[in-house]
Amino acid sequence: MILILLGPPGAGKGTQGRFLADEYGIPEISSGDILRAEVAGNTKLGRQAKSYMDKGELVPDGIIVAMMADRISKEDCKPGFILDGFPRTIDQAGALADMLKELGRSVDFVLNIDISEERVIKRISGRRSCPNCSSVYNVHCNPPKKDGICDNCGNELIQRIDDSESTVLNRLKIYNKQTKPIIDCYDKRSLLRTVDGEPKPDVILDDILNLLNR
Ligand code: AP5
Repeated sequence: MILILLGPPGAGKGTQGRFLADEYGIPEISSGDILRAEVAGNTKLGRQAKSYMDKGELVPDGIIVAMMADRISKEDCKPGFILDGFPRTIDQAGALADMLKELGRSVDFVLNIDISEERVIKRISGRRSCPNCSSVYNVHCNPPKKDGICDNCGNELIQRIDDSESTVLNRLKIYNKQTKPIIDCYDKRSLLRTVDGEPKPDVILDDILNLLNR
């Protein structure tokens, strides 16, 4: 199965993506996580991406498409994969279709996580992330067992630089302008399923599994 997760920043794409990866035994590929690892490693790609990410702007399509084409071609993607954060522009969606065509594959479902802007701002303000294993917590509703420490690997949790309120507002603006139009494209191709992103994570997961298994 090839599944794309869409939704505004903080909608819960990463949270649901990790659940679904466990459920279906396929990798969750987060363009944001790959970029953050490149930034942390101070690679050429990371240095190119950092200034865009810190401001909440999109990294140029050419960089992202090459990075994702490389990831999707890896052996572990053969049984299928879940995309979180890619594609994010109409051009990226076109490039994804081309790269899948070359591999003789196509997208099976696109899942849109629908949620209000007020809710995402609250969620993002409470998010804490592990820079080592990418686990995600929330001080309001999903805190780690020990304050500030990752349950999974024991690393210190951080607040992402792009999670400040002004940057989140910019990310939402960019999402509405550049990413939302993709939803219509996939809807026209009858690939789109929409789920309510407001309930608790386990409720959303059940709704998603019902939608995908229908
Ligand atoms: P990226 O990392 O993709 O950020 P995003 O799309 O803005 O999404 P988030 O990671 O903020 O949120 P999410 O939907 O995964 O929510 P989460 O599950 O964490 O991208 C970052 C940057 O990288 C971009 O701004 C751009 O610069 C660059 N980039 C990445 N991809 C790119 C691309 N394709 N093209 C160009 N540039 C690109 O949940 C959020 C919080 O809410 C967490 O604390 C979580 O615990 C909590 N939560 C989740 N679900 C629930 C729930 N149901 N109830 C209560 N709390 C919940």
